[in-house]
Amino acid sequence: MTILVTGGAGFIGSNFVLDWLATCSEPVVNLDKLTYAGNLENLAELEGNPRHIFVQGDIGDTALVESLMREHQPRAVLNFAAESHVDRSIHGPEAFIQTNIVGTFRLLEAVRSWWGQLPADGKVRFRFLHVSTDEVYGSLEKTAPAFTESHSYEPNSPYSASKASSDHLVRAYHHTYGLPVLTTNCSNNYGPYHFPEKLIPLVIVNALSGKPLPVYGDGQQIRDWLYVKDHCAAIRRVLEAGVCGETYNVGGWNEKANLDIVTEVCALLDELRPREDGVHYRMQITHVPDRPGHDRRYAIDARKIERELHWRPAETFATGIRKTVQWYLDHPQWVANVQSGSYRDWVAQNYEGRPA
Ligand code: NAD
Ligand code: DAU
Repeated sequence: MTILVTGGAGFIGSNFVLDWLATCSEPVVNLDKLTYAGNLENLAELEGNPRHIFVQGDIGDTALVESLMREHQPRAVLNFAAESHVDRSIHGPEAFIQTNIVGTFRLLEAVRSWWGQLPADGKVRFRFLHVSTDEVYGSLEKTAPAFTESHSYEPNSPYSASKASSDHLVRAYHHTYGLPVLTTNCSNNYGPYHFPEKLIPLVIVNALSGKPLPVYGDGQQIRDWLYVKDHCAAIRRVLEAGVCGETYNVGGWNEKANLDIVTEVCALLDELRPREDGVHYRMQITHVPDRPGHDRRYAIDARKIERELHWRPAETFATGIRKTVQWYLDHPQWVANVQSGSYRDWVAQNYEGRPA
């Protein structure tokens, strides 16, 4: 049996593929467009591994997806592919509409057409798992209860609106066509291979290069943080035992204000790689104008996945953030290649002209 993963060269997708191949025998077909966020260096350790089949392409390319389904007959499709950065969605929403809405629609159509021709037992066994976000639920007041799976959808950014649309399409394909779908709505991930446009990796790499650490507004916006390997374990568990048509909220039980996150990262860097001049990294913190429409608080109630599927995060924020900071300190070349843009040459360097 094989699984097809989309977006498997991105942050969460690459962690998922690495963990999957380390823990399961099933091969992975990895379909990724390699946008700026796709980085095959994340998967460098899989070089030569016959169980990893990488295909550069778009989830919106129906002919390509249909041919991959026919060729590899996957027992499941896991959709990680998306435009994922809220600030980019504010500056240019078009790509978000194309990939997150139109792309997901085309992927669903291609999968539905292939699935419809399977024998009855294959139809029942197949799964389409859609990876989504807590941002679809909108913003919470400070003392409001955390998001449950039945919270209304109130997306506030072009990114979250596009993810909300994709969730609705996935739901509709189950209710209308009977496609066996599962949806996960997760909180903020952090960990290895996180692209340094997002808060935590940006703070680590800026701190180390002596640059300002930009905090939007008053820095009191609250997010729930989940170590990426815990998210990957949750997805494996939902794929294994989730009930078709259901959604599962995935979170870390780690609600923290942005300013506290940045301060904790600075304190860890002070301990693990102190500045040569002895000045604390927190002195680099700079408040900058707020993100337009910035959601004030997200919080995930992850009791359903714990009660029904017995999943809980293994890491606390203290253990996960220490591993994360240490990973960035141990991988200066990965950081340098991302910063210089040369990670995008990796495909040419590593894959073109390779003897068959
Ligand atoms: P990412 O931006 O790091 O990676 C996205 C990947 O998708 C990249 O490799 C990119 O090349 C690929 N991609 C983009 N458009 C594509 C297309 N049209 N066809 C094929 N591939 C395409 O994102 P991430 O942080 O790894 O997030 C993965 C998924 O998880 C997304 O769906 C995101 O909405 C969701 N999510 C992310 C977080 C988080 O904290 N990062 C939290 C909850 C949910
Ligand atoms: O909640 C899940 C979501 O988490 C995912 O769906 C998104 O794909 C993912 O990008 C992430 O979205 P956020 O907007 O929460 O992540 P980001 O790292 O961009 O920002 C985290 C918080 O930090 C947010 O409140 C904005 C703030 N921030 C961010 C950046 C980049 C800053 O204060 N300064 C910054 O420079």
